[in-house]
Amino acid sequence: MSAHLALQAPFFEGAGEQEEARRAFARDLVAALDARPRRISPKYFYDAAGSRLFDRICTLPEYYPTRTEAGILRERAGEIARHIGPGAEIVEFGAGSLHKVRWLLDALQAPRGYLPIDISGEHLAEAARQLREERPGLSVHPVVADYTQPFALPQPAPGARRVGFFPGSTLGNFDEAEAFSFLSRAAQLLRGGGLLLGVDLVKDPAVLHAAYNDSQGVTAAFNRNLLVRANTELGCDFDIDGFAHAAFYNAPLQRIEMHLQSLRAQTVHLGGVAWRFEEGETLHTENSHKFSVEGLRALALRAGFGIGPVWTDADRLFSVHWLPAAQ
Ligand code: AVI
Repeated sequence: MSAHLALQAPFFEGAGEQEEARRAFARDLVAALDARPRRISPKYFYDAAGSRLFDRICTLPEYYPTRTEAGILRERAGEIARHIGPGAEIVEFGAGSLHKVRWLLDALQAPRGYLPIDISGEHLAEAARQLREERPGLSVHPVVADYTQPFALPQPAPGARRVGFFPGSTLGNFDEAEAFSFLSRAAQLLRGGGLLLGVDLVKDPAVLHAAYNDSQGVTAAFNRNLLVRANTELGCDFDIDGFAHAAFYNAPLQRIEMHLQSLRAQTVHLGGVAWRFEEGETLHTENSHKFSVEGLRALALRAGFGIGPVWTDADRLFSVHWLPAAQ
């Protein structure tokens, strides 16, 4: 029997959004296990535990992107706010813990509202509750959605300009076709406003290597969380310690690749079907592309944005772009 048939009901019975998400994870994991090379979307890192691990990564000494981007946003907030203009409604893609938007909200003149979009509903609800408590004057509408797919947003407040905020170089986790299609959809959604986009820059591979191989093993735990989720949510039997965290810079493709590498020949099960991993075989879990300013601008132009200013730190580790969207 094909692995796909084995995963149909009654193995996955139930209803509701959570069940639908579980089915999608099962479908994508089966497709990944069937494929050669094996590859799955990094979106499956982010359950509540994965989101907490990612928050820890952002505070690690080796992981420069978060603090460098925060520094740029903090130091250039006034200038950025002038480009965005007054009365903007901020739409944040993949909002996570809503840490970064605070710099922006502080600097903006009379923001009309804030719509954080994230796939992890529980984490988002808690973060939105905290933000409302801190800023009772701001209208906050969390949207639980996979923003890599088409999704609907509530009508904008009358007269509000929609401004996207996509920090953290999450764009780098898409392949080029996905990045193009995301930016094209964003250019439509944000017509008359624009996108404030943070992307990581190409740099010394040693700096990149350290950022994705931290000494405390938090990135390794984040990577392995995908297997933990497969075991708890899909009833798989991955030996978590039987897979090593492998992260390296692929220079020709300008990206960090993260893999889970089987430490021995082993068999895993999903829905009663067995899949074999040879020693050294990997499940490719994430790409993190690094950009040049010119490369990013060319992509944004193709997707329908105009080109605005770019802000970087003194060491040119990271970049924040203002990309206006025509009416
Ligand atoms: C969310 N994303 C931009 C992070 C990155 O750097 O690509 C995810 C991450 N993976 C390992 N460390 C951080």
